[in-house]
Amino acid sequence: MNLTDFRTLGRSGLVVSPLALGTMTFGPGEWGADEANSRAIFDAYRDAGGNFIDTSDIYSGGESERLVGRFIADAGARDEIVLATKFGFNASASPLTASQGGGGNPHAGGAGAKNIHRALDASLKRLGTDYIDLYWMHIWDGVTPVEEILQTLGDLVRAGKIRYFGFSDMPAWVGCKAATIATERRVPGPIAMQLEYSLVARDVEAEHFPVAREGGMGIMPWSPLAGGFLSGKYRREDTSGTGRLSGANPFGDSKFTDRNWDILEAAQTVAAEVERPVAQVALAWTLARPGVASTLIGASKVSQIESNVAATGLRLSDEQLARLDEASAPAPTFSTVLTSPDIRRMVFGGRAVTGWGE
Ligand SMILES: NC(=O)c1ccc[n+]([C@@H]2O[C@H](COP(=O)([O-])OP(=O)(O)OC[C@H]3O[C@@H](n4cnc5c(N)ncnc54)[C@H](OP(=O)(O)O)[C@@H]3O)[C@@H](O)[C@H]2O)c1
Repeated sequence: MNLTDFRTLGRSGLVVSPLALGTMTFGPGEWGADEANSRAIFDAYRDAGGNFIDTSDIYSGGESERLVGRFIADAGARDEIVLATKFGFNASASPLTASQGGGGNPHAGGAGAKNIHRALDASLKRLGTDYIDLYWMHIWDGVTPVEEILQTLGDLVRAGKIRYFGFSDMPAWVGCKAATIATERRVPGPIAMQLEYSLVARDVEAEHFPVAREGGMGIMPWSPLAGGFLSGKYRREDTSGTGRLSGANPFGDSKFTDRNWDILEAAQTVAAEVERPVAQVALAWTLARPGVASTLIGASKVSQIESNVAATGLRLSDEQLARLDEASAPAPTFSTVLTSPDIRRMVFGGRAVTGWGE
């Protein structure tokens, strides 16, 4: 496999590379890449054949979108590139202001029609384009009805301002409801889900993966290296001064848990067997997961992107994949137990029954 091993994203005609370039690091910030560095990362991804670029209106306060727009224009590549950006987080208030109890404009965030129109117009301006290929709801706001979100995004498809849309960071039922309504009404529905997914973050397998399969949505994992943890550059004894995770973790939970160190060790054993960096093993595992359409990779340096892209050429054996699955297996949940082979066998009188598409 390589970056030109194109596939469709979900049940759609959108043709994408198996690895997408995430540009959360583009622009100023504690773990960001300056313009020259960002351009080198963008060029390295494009030179390797990649066609799928992901940004957001909130990355580096909008600077990521400005840089991505400039790089695409300079490359004269707007027609070749699948350009994705996102709305949803609040553009008027820092998280600090929010936690202090106010200061921001509630209409500068969320999934209501008023914010989506505002956010899209601002993104188009920063990106210097008149349409977005894939428009993501970055996070569900917890209040806007699914019907309103579908109506607003469907209208934008019909108006030609976006080609497709997808949902990121939402409860599985939100995706399920949207896909069901869209099918029944024969209107545009979400074609993909963007979720945290890696060897150390497999919770979404329980509910989101079945919803994606049922609803015709491709899965796009974010943080497939757990923010750099699965590159193996951090040490159990001392995690300071090494990279993004040495500072304040923007996503709350610490990656430095005993369970995660054990999973990393299992991946390192496989890496030694195949004589590849452990980051490539972690990415190859993600690429091989059923339902995963395209995996987002991020980088602060061009050498990282060059090395990570090579994961597409790494095929782990079934035995190695099984060992990684076992070492990283998520704790059973109510719904995974209900759909386990043991329960199915019990239901069918001790017989093994294979379902459609399994
Ligand atoms: N929808 C969402 O809510 C959401 C959330 C997060 C991200 N995303 C998207 O997903 C993309 C990828 O996420 P991510 O950046 O967290 O992915 P990641 O692949 O888990 O982490 C990337 C970071 O790991 C380190 N790294 C990468 N390759 C390395 C290597 N070979 N050796 C050593 N260190 C390496 C670098 O950080 P340092 O060098 O600074 O350590 C790099 O910035 C983002 O750009 C964004 O587009 C979406």
